Amino acid sequence: MRAILQLTDLHVEPRGVLAYGKADTASRLDALRPWLEAKAREVDLIVVTGDIACDGNVESYRHVREVFSNLAAPVRMLPGNHDSRSAMRAHLAGLTEASEAAAANDPVEFRFETEDFRVVGLDTLIPGTHWGEAKASSLARLEAIFDEDRRAGVAKPTILFMHHTPLHSGMPKMDEPFGNRDAFARVLAARPDVRLATGHMHRSIVGLFGSNVVVTAPPAALSIELDFGPEGGDAFRMEPPGFALHKLIDSSWVTHTGLVPVPDDFSGPYPFAGAVNPVD
Ligand SMILES: [Fe+2]
Ligand SMILES: [Fe+2]
Repeated sequence: MRAILQLTDLHVEPRGVLAYGKADTASRLDALRPWLEAKAREVDLIVVTGDIACDGNVESYRHVREVFSNLAAPVRMLPGNHDSRSAMRAHLAGLTEASEAAAANDPVEFRFETEDFRVVGLDTLIPGTHWGEAKASSLARLEAIFDEDRRAGVAKPTILFMHHTPLHSGMPKMDEPFGNRDAFARVLAARPDVRLATGHMHRSIVGLFGSNVVVTAPPAALSIELDFGPEGGDAFRMEPPGFALHKLIDSSWVTHTGLVPVPDDFSGPYPFAGAVNPVD
């Protein structure tokens, strides 16, 4: 199949709690389920690029585990700024490669290989902050992977998933620092063929980071209102959930973005009432 389904920014709240007083993200997860179960039979892997829970709460992760645990495709989840690494470790067993025995703040990352492509997941979370970083340990990991290809004399088609994006969106409230940005660019410069697939921006955006194509997938919840004014990026609209589907065609990645047929009313924009970033 050589295809990967990406979902991002589910922001699941406990049942009965509305995210930012408006979005019933727990019910949305239930509504997504039949589509997800069908789609899982068509792909090699499902990656969820963070902001899985809206505030790192255990009840949300239990709900997510129930929905994602028995799909036909393997699942790998990464943390976003609204997630808790320790809660993910404890409650998303089998959906991350993180060992429960690891230290609470060790990165939650993954590597998934098939005969003809490679997927790497990097953890960009800095507990307590909205923005993210490419950790020195992640960069070392990436360099070692690229070295393997160099020694083997191949450039295995590779796609790199993470929550935060090094792209600037033009929406001032979302355009924040990205830690180790220059070092990350230097490592990637060796491999301009590598595709980056991210989340966090709550919009579908395509751009370049150096020579690497970056796609930010549309969110499963809370679409950010497209606004380039001074407050741009600080409000959301109720839109249907989005997804990205990355397909390997002739050794390069083609990315489709689309909407899941779960209706919404496009009401908004509504202001974010302050983001919650649990400290792990
Ligand atoms: Fe998010
Ligand atoms: Fe985020």
